[in-house]
Amino acid sequence: MRLRPEIAAVPPYQQGRPAPEGGFKLSSNENPFPPLPAVVEAVQREAERVNRYPRPGSPLLQQALARELGVDAERILIGDGSASLLQQLIHAVAGVGDEVVYAWRSFDAYPLFVRTGGATPVEVPLGPDHEHDLDAMAAAITERTRAVLVCSPNNPTGTIVDPGELEAFLDRVPSDVLVMLDEAYVEFVREPVPDGIALQRQRDNVVVLRTFSKAYGLAGLRVGYAVGDPAVLRGADLTGVPLSQTALGSAAAIAALEHRDENLERIEQIVQHRDALWRALVDAGVAVPRPHGNFLWVPSRPGQEDAIHDILFANRLVAKVFPEGTRISVGEPEADELVVAAATAIQALQ
Ligand SMILES: Cc1ncc(COP(=O)(O)O)c(C=O)c1O
Repeated sequence: MRLRPEIAAVPPYQQGRPAPEGGFKLSSNENPFPPLPAVVEAVQREAERVNRYPRPGSPLLQQALARELGVDAERILIGDGSASLLQQLIHAVAGVGDEVVYAWRSFDAYPLFVRTGGATPVEVPLGPDHEHDLDAMAAAITERTRAVLVCSPNNPTGTIVDPGELEAFLDRVPSDVLVMLDEAYVEFVREPVPDGIALQRQRDNVVVLRTFSKAYGLAGLRVGYAVGDPAVLRGADLTGVPLSQTALGSAAAIAALEHRDENLERIEQIVQHRDALWRALVDAGVAVPRPHGNFLWVPSRPGQEDAIHDILFANRLVAKVFPEGTRISVGEPEADELVVAAATAIQALQ
């Protein structure tokens, strides 16, 4: 059996370790709150109809989001997670011989989706404060570039892009290059952020991606959406699997939107918790950049990964360890003391 060469060349995905006995899984930026009762009820109601296929395109959720965001329904594409939509968009615009520019380190699915589509990743190192270097990203665009990804807040470093700097960057991107604004964590930001919805209205080459997995706590149901030019979304739709968004997921997302106030309250609690944990880390002398998502970034050096896994294990934590640092999700408050102890020990390795 022969795999396509671009698939055979993809490095294996690094699986996370399981949570130790009685420990805390802080490795996937999940929402620690269980689903709202209204969400569970909506899923149970919908469960009685699972002998039927879902409606193509999840039109009820599409309409609910159109009302919520104040955009035409045709400018919204529902996906089974925003990761699927990222893959669909990348595969719709970039193939063999094309390039896709993104900051690095960022969401680890980006290189995977670019490579499986046959295109070439162009990774632009983050700046000194773990932020996107938009000038360097603009300079990395060539005639081969078909797409650019901007992740704000950036997974895994938690940094955000400045609205003015993003607009200046977009002015430098050719109008036939797709810009994907990945806003998976936007609901946790308390600073001025670019208005992605307004930007995509003014620029046909901008698509905004959001998810119900994080702030709305529906990670297990896989619901995300893209907002942008209908022609671009049509292309992305064609590269996806028909009917892959489940009716259960759509019903849960509609219920989550209908109970917006309860969700906003929970999001606010996570934000307050994040900021308190960040302050505790800074007070303990750990150099953690100001977080804007639901996770914290503890920088380290390549080669320290095994020692960091040992420290996390000793503190009954699972977090995501990269060569440049460790991403720790803001989870159960009971884990906070362990997080401070682990982060302090990680910093002491340097
Ligand atoms: C930056 C970013 N984008 C997109 C996603 C995908 O989220 P989902 O596919 O659950 O919607 C994630 C998930 O971790 C993420 O961190």
